[in-house]
Amino acid sequence: MAAPPPAEVVSVAVAAVPARRPRGVRPLAMPGLLLGDEAPNFEADTTHGRIRFHDFLGDSWGILFSHPRDFTPVCTTELGRAAKLAPEFRKRNVKMIALSIDDVSDHLAWSKDINAYNGDEPTEKLPFPIIADAKRELSIQLGMLDPDERDKEGMPLTARVVFVFGPDKKLKLSILYPATTGRNFDEILRVVDSLQLTAKNKVATPVDWKRGDRVMVIPSMPDDEAKKLFPEGIFTKELPSGKKYLRYTPQP
Ligand code: BEZ
Repeated sequence: MAAPPPAEVVSVAVAAVPARRPRGVRPLAMPGLLLGDEAPNFEADTTHGRIRFHDFLGDSWGILFSHPRDFTPVCTTELGRAAKLAPEFRKRNVKMIALSIDDVSDHLAWSKDINAYNGDEPTEKLPFPIIADAKRELSIQLGMLDPDERDKEGMPLTARVVFVFGPDKKLKLSILYPATTGRNFDEILRVVDSLQLTAKNKVATPVDWKRGDRVMVIPSMPDDEAKKLFPEGIFTKELPSGKKYLRYTPQP
């Protein structure tokens, strides 16, 4: 992806987001990254100093989650939960980074509130950096602005986007929620487990799957290959169609 757009382009792009969208018209592409796209190697100021995104990710998995604004209630609960779950993300070799459209000094002051919300010492320290994007340059580059959610000045806010990147820096998953709906960070951990499992093994995870549950054999795999690959056995559910596509195997 290209370098961040210059300031003039940003102000024109932000101003161009109409207050009411005609049905079916998309003023800014959301989301700005598609599965398989490489993460842009942006530079940004964060609460942990200036970063270059690819260096920040290193060889790890990465999760980038955006927030509409600092000092807002839903975001505070989300970042509190993200901080509590940081050891779980660390165990899975996932680097966490948040983004909100305020500056570093606001982010640091807000971090105290987030720690206090968690019942911890109200320090400026969180276990992950928060990117400062007061000019919305990165939010525009990443297609995160929600045309329907505005601040008091009528400027568009960022939606609640989750991007999960693999160690190859390619986008493996994106989730897009509006500002008024908080995310479920246990669900984000769950999908990371699925992404990491299915990156290593030729399996898929069924509805509501959690670590340790049985998994599905992928439809493109012939039975004889599946039998060799999954020595613990395959259970095929009989279905009215007579088609043998619902094949389970224990989690490899
Ligand atoms: C919040 O984080 O509470 C929030 C932010 C923007 C709009 C609605 C809610």
